[in-house]
Amino acid sequence: MAVLKIPDANVTIYNFKEIQSFLEARGVWHDRWEANEVLAPDATQDEVLDAYRSDLKPFMERGGYKTADVINVHAGTPNVDAIRQKFLAEHTHTEDEIRFFVEGEGIFWFHIGEEVFAVTCRAGDLLSVPANTSHWFDLGPKAHVKAIRVFIDPSGWVANYTGSGIDKRYNPGY
Ligand SMILES: [Fe+2]
Repeated sequence: MAVLKIPDANVTIYNFKEIQSFLEARGVWHDRWEANEVLAPDATQDEVLDAYRSDLKPFMERGGYKTADVINVHAGTPNVDAIRQKFLAEHTHTEDEIRFFVEGEGIFWFHIGEEVFAVTCRAGDLLSVPANTSHWFDLGPKAHVKAIRVFIDPSGWVANYTGSGIDKRYNPGY
């Protein structure tokens, strides 16, 4: 289950409905799904997508999403630090960033208006970062995550870095 933290207010929310309405009020969609498949650490992209096809297909059809792929980072992944750094600076995309968490965890940080808050996502959590919303993503202390990414057009998912440096105030050093 996701956990929401607002560090500046010293607030942590664990309740799904409370997290969902907090995020909804800020234009961020969050939901839960069944992520019960057991997959090998080195499961291929197709194995992961096949395991969840029955949930993924109707979701993609409803939302007009055209492609899906899988981000898979684990202990054996080469260049984990380079992968971590790539998403750790504040950025935006011209397309929604949608993630279905299958295994492990990852932390989405949002910077909306004056507010900065973090959503730690684990297996079964769905999250959509709206297009043009300032955010960054932290692989977390374990650097272990499997998540399905869904796109209308992957070219819209290029990271446009804001260069604000605000992320450095919040990211823990691992
Ligand atoms: Fe992003």
